[in-house]
Parts: sequence; C-alpha cells; structure tokens
Amino acid sequence: MTNFELEKMVNTSDEWIRTRTGISERRVVHKGQTTADMSTNIAKELLQRSNTDPEEVEVIIVATVTPDMPTPATASLVQDRIGAKKAWGFDLSGACTGFIYALDTASRLIESGKYNKVMVIGLDTMSSVLDYTDRDTCVLFGDGGGGVMLERAANEEHGVLDSILRSDGSGGDYLKIPGGGSLHPASHDTVNKKLHYITQDGRVVFKFAVKGMADVSAQILEKNGIASSAVDLYIPHQANKRIIDGAAKRCGFNEDQVFINIDRYGNTTAGTIPICMDEAVEFGRLQDGNLLLIAAFGAGFTWGSMLIRWGK
Ligand code: UT7
Repeated sequence: MTNFELEKMVNTSDEWIRTRTGISERRVVHKGQTTADMSTNIAKELLQRSNTDPEEVEVIIVATVTPDMPTPATASLVQDRIGAKKAWGFDLSGACTGFIYALDTASRLIESGKYNKVMVIGLDTMSSVLDYTDRDTCVLFGDGGGGVMLERAANEEHGVLDSILRSDGSGGDYLKIPGGGSLHPASHDTVNKKLHYITQDGRVVFKFAVKGMADVSAQILEKNGIASSAVDLYIPHQANKRIIDGAAKRCGFNEDQVFINIDRYGNTTAGTIPICMDEAVEFGRLQDGNLLLIAAFGAGFTWGSMLIRWGK
C-alpha cells in the first residue's frame, strides 16, 4: 500500500509521510490472511533453508501483538501446521522489542543445555488493529515478519554475545490497543468506541524511542568494550527514519553501518528486525563472522539491544 493510496483514505500526503517518517509504502495482507498463515510460511522457509526436519524443532517462539486469537497461541498453530510434533512453544508479547526478547529467551534455552533447535519468529499483522480513518496511526504501520532457526553454534565465538533488555510500564498509556482484553472485553460499546484499534501519542513515544534505543545501543558497546566503528551492521527498529537517524548519530554510527528499509515496509512491530536481518543477508550486508548490533523500542514501553556474532 503506497502513500498515494493512503492519500485517498485519510487527510494526508505522500510528502508529509515521507518527510516525517521516511515511509513510502508498506505491505498489507490479503483479506483473510492471518498472523498464523504468515508465521507458517516463515517457519516452512526456515526449515527448508536450515535443512531441518520438522520433528527436530524443540521450541517455537512467536513474538507478536497481533495473534490470530488470544488462545490458542500462534506458536501452537504453527507447530501443528509444520508437523513439529515434538515441539512446544508460546507467543511473546513485547511489541516492537518482541523479537529481541524472544531471541534472548531462545538463546538462554539453548545455553541451558536442554534444547538444540529453537525457532524464533517475529511478525505482526498490524492492518488488523489499524483504524484506516486515523491518520495518526494508519500511515505508520505495515504487515510482515521473519524468523531465525537458532541452534547451538559450532564456532564458540559465534552467536548471541550479549543483550540489554528493558521495560517501563509507566509508558503504557502512550501506545496501546485498549480493548479486547480483560479490562475492556469486546462488546458493541468497545467496538463503537474503536477501542480495538492501536492508538499512540506519537510525540511522547518519539522522544522516549530515540533516547531508549540510543542508550541501550551505546551501553551494550561500552559494556563489551567495543567501539562503534567495530560494528559491521546496526539494525535498529524501523518506526521512523528520524528516530533511526537520531539513535545512530548518538551512538556514532555512520550511514554505511545502519540498515534501513522503513521506506518499503513501515513499522511492522515485531516483524521489523527479522525482516531487516533477512534482507541484510540477501543484499550481502551481513556475512559470516560479522558483528551485528540490533536494537528496538516499542509499546510497553519495552526496549533492548543485542550483540550478535553472525554465523554458525
Ligand atoms: O514502534 C512503536 C514506536 N512508535 C514510534 O516510535 C512512533 C514515534 N512517533 C513518531 O514517529 C512521530 O511522532 C509521528 C510520525 C507519529 C508524528 O510525527 P511528528 O513530527 O511528531 O508530528 P506531530 O504529531 O507533531 O504532528 C505535526 C503535524 C500536526 O499538525 P499541526 O498540529 O502542526 O497542524 C498533525 O496534525 O502533522 C499533522 N499530522 C499529519 N499530517 C498529515 C499528523 N499525522 C499526519 C498525517 N498526515 N498522517
């Protein structure tokens, strides 16, 4: 869906969206397509690319705030659809930081010694919670996701090196989907009041996002004694090009070190980081042995960073 298509739906302009956010277009699922459908496609591709038999998968973690339904978990639907008969799994609700939370959890499961293969999927069908009459939100988000098959690294120097994970629930009111849960169970009234849509105070979130993402990115480098120039690729959450630029500048990254694809996808919430990872590999910007820094900020508030030595 292009900005020009949105111009026909709400009082906005391609120029405003591009200059204020960096977004030109975003993906939207076809009617009837769901988060579990997308997750299943991602899971099947992960099995194929990593040459894994479905029965070898032990755990499936799906980071999402837009599951098909509150229960069963998307992870259970995927587990069944791909025939991962020996796997258990769960959905993780960490909004834009969900994929980093999930990847950290998965790496700790492997480190525990009990598990060898954990599938981590991050995705969101944001179009299912967007009010396409609200220009404050509908221009920002898109649908999409990706994933990784996390395994014990053959090379001990490869893998998840460190992470810093944070949350501050006092920011909850600034970005939320108020309805449909136990606070406001779905009713005619909640639907009439549009409580099932996402709402945010963009200006407040903007300020916290730049500071939060920059802080945890700088802190993880300092903690590990790594200069910003030593990072091969920085993948920040893609909510707004100006947030990305602000955080990258504060950490001392130059343009070549920062991966940006917000122009084509908008903000895909938990899907953003794995989509960037996949494109970075495809475009040859992320190769075996590279030092990767990922960072995100989102609803909750939640935020975090992770250092990864890419490779098996
Ligand atoms: O991933 C979760 C985290 N989410 C975020 O990180 C989002 C953070 N926030 C943002 O990215 C930005 O705050 C927005 C993109 C949401 C808004 O940009 P802004 O520069 O903060 O704009 P604003 O809210 O200060 O609004 C500036 C003007 C206002 O008009 P007036 O009051 O100056 O006349 C808005 O009404 O822009 C207007 N505006 C729009 N105009 C055209 C707001 N949305 C739109 C729109 N099209 N879609």
